[in-house]
Amino acid sequence: MNAHLLPFTDPRAAEASPPRRMVRGQGATVWDVDGHAFLDAVSGLWCASLGFAPSRLRDAAARQMDELAYYHSFMGRTCAVTDRLSRELTALLPAGLDHVLYGTSGSEAVEAAVKLARYWQAGRGRPGKTRVIARDGGYHGSLVTSAALTSMAYCHDGFHLPADAVIRVGRPHVLRDADPGEDEQAFAARLVAELEATILDEGPDTICAMIAEPAMGSGGVMLPPEGYWNGVQDVLRRHDILLIADEIITGFGRTGRWFGCQTYGIAPDMMTLAKQLTGAVFPLSAVAMTGRIRDGIADHAHGLGTLGHGVTYGGHPVGAAVALEALAMYREMDLESHVARMGAGLEAAMAPVRALPGVLDVRRVGLMMGVELAPGHAARAAAAAEDRGVLFRLIGDVLGIAPPYVTTDAEIARIGAVMADAVRQTARIPKAEPA
Ligand SMILES: Cc1ncc(COP(=O)(O)O)c(C=O)c1O
Repeated sequence: MNAHLLPFTDPRAAEASPPRRMVRGQGATVWDVDGHAFLDAVSGLWCASLGFAPSRLRDAAARQMDELAYYHSFMGRTCAVTDRLSRELTALLPAGLDHVLYGTSGSEAVEAAVKLARYWQAGRGRPGKTRVIARDGGYHGSLVTSAALTSMAYCHDGFHLPADAVIRVGRPHVLRDADPGEDEQAFAARLVAELEATILDEGPDTICAMIAEPAMGSGGVMLPPEGYWNGVQDVLRRHDILLIADEIITGFGRTGRWFGCQTYGIAPDMMTLAKQLTGAVFPLSAVAMTGRIRDGIADHAHGLGTLGHGVTYGGHPVGAAVALEALAMYREMDLESHVARMGAGLEAAMAPVRALPGVLDVRRVGLMMGVELAPGHAARAAAAAEDRGVLFRLIGDVLGIAPPYVTTDAEIARIGAVMADAVRQTARIPKAEPA
């Protein structure tokens, strides 16, 4: 039996069918212990943007480990390299987001953002504003508050999460949730009106923030309909509710611009970042915030004597060095034009898939794509693709695609060809009837 209790896995099923153990990576490909090669079309968990063994990131980590392998950022100390990262990162972030606080995982960044939003509200004399709005289909992590914000039932079941801290609103899933005859704008307007009605019903004085992914990833690659983000921001501003943009997947080019907020015209109060911040080769996350939030937190903490929050590895110098190198690599590849070019290539490679029977929708922004299949087909298509050496992310009826930025043109073509083959093979296999 495997000594590792595996996340997001049925442990009893894993006893009978052990996990595939990866041993090696190069570019967008990983090899398992039996020598099978897999082109990972979703960058692991939407994160390994620079491939699975990027030598420049290894060298940056090694250099930093030789110099200073650890120091913390508590109680009046920090690392020079972490300071450098803060300067570079805030220079890159959308205007206004000019301060950061570090953690190690995405879930931790989300937990910190919520804590800081509450702290900020309490500091300005609104201690009752504590609850957070999150959407159906949203994924924000799997700790305590972050799991409560996540919508998937399997993240809640059995864990006794603080459900009363969360207010759930509808997801912008045009294909599934728009009414018959309702166009994108009308659907967006309805979601925005429902958001406002929910806020009024629950009481704006009880709500500190809304958290949302600019484009939803793990919920099934849901792209916001036109008018949605303008409307949402307008409502939040009117009711004095902060916006936390969860850019843990969308940050660093995934949607075409450096940040999803730029792609969709979002001006958040806070932003959570992780994954592609280091190309996933070192666990580092960040919460970015505007000067207004930072100042409110600073005043509140000053009154209390300290900012009572932090984790041992937050702002780790090796992570900071790796992030600085990843940012340099993004700049050198001219990230936005690189993603535009690769996105167009992915679109062309997937064009034949759109026309196949059983394919309900192919949606893309930048280098992030969701292929929605007729109910019941996606798991078999994912398995058929894996047999052919390409890994997609299975999300209900959707196959997610988010290839590393180092994926070659030939590999992008292969992703399209294998998806088409897998869908064709799946469509030929009749769906098993329930007994
Ligand atoms: C949007 C979003 N937020 C938060 C998280 C949680 O990040 P982590 O798994 O690093 O805790 C994820 C992970 O997939 C994510 O996609």
